[in-house]
Amino acid sequence: MKTAIVYASVHHGNTKKIIDEIAKTKDVELIDATQTVEKDLSEYDLIGFASGVYGGKFHQSVLKFASVNLTDNKNVFLICTYGGRPVFKSIEQVIAYKHDNIVGRFSCKGFDTFGPFKLIGGVSKGHPDEKDLAAAVEFYNGLTEQPVFLK
Ligand SMILES: Cc1cc2nc3c(=O)[nH]c(=O)nc-3n(C[C@H](O)[C@H](O)[C@H](O)COP(=O)(O)O)c2cc1C
Repeated sequence: MKTAIVYASVHHGNTKKIIDEIAKTKDVELIDATQTVEKDLSEYDLIGFASGVYGGKFHQSVLKFASVNLTDNKNVFLICTYGGRPVFKSIEQVIAYKHDNIVGRFSCKGFDTFGPFKLIGGVSKGHPDEKDLAAAVEFYNGLTEQPVFLK
């Protein structure tokens, strides 16, 4: 099975830590959406979109990448890291428009020093931590064990 994770991780590399952990033991291709505009995704059986939450949305580059490159009937999963709370709506809207199938969502806290939080030394300090990383790997393993992938 071929998996790609399209990501943006521009604040503290929190999201990158999560997907690096997943990619460490699995055959997963990582695509940095801030560097890649166009890519043929037809060869992948499973596509992840991973991002920090910025102003309540996935990073614009991930949303744009999905709009440009995602074709219909793909199995996709979503990962976000956040300072306050997880929000998937922006990417879910793109995926709904493209008629793809969301097979799972994972989120965890990520160190956040944006705006006023900087003054207090940031929030969600120390995240993602070891537990978050282990939970992300467990999430990914669970996904690939779903009936749709066990052909
Ligand atoms: C410009 C900016 C806006 C942010 N807006 C939100 C937000 O709306 N909600 C939230 O929960 N966290 C917000 N955060 C915190 C990030 O989502 C969090 O730190 C995330 O883990 C960053 O991921 P990254 O290090 O992979 O970029 C924001 C951070 C930045 C820099």
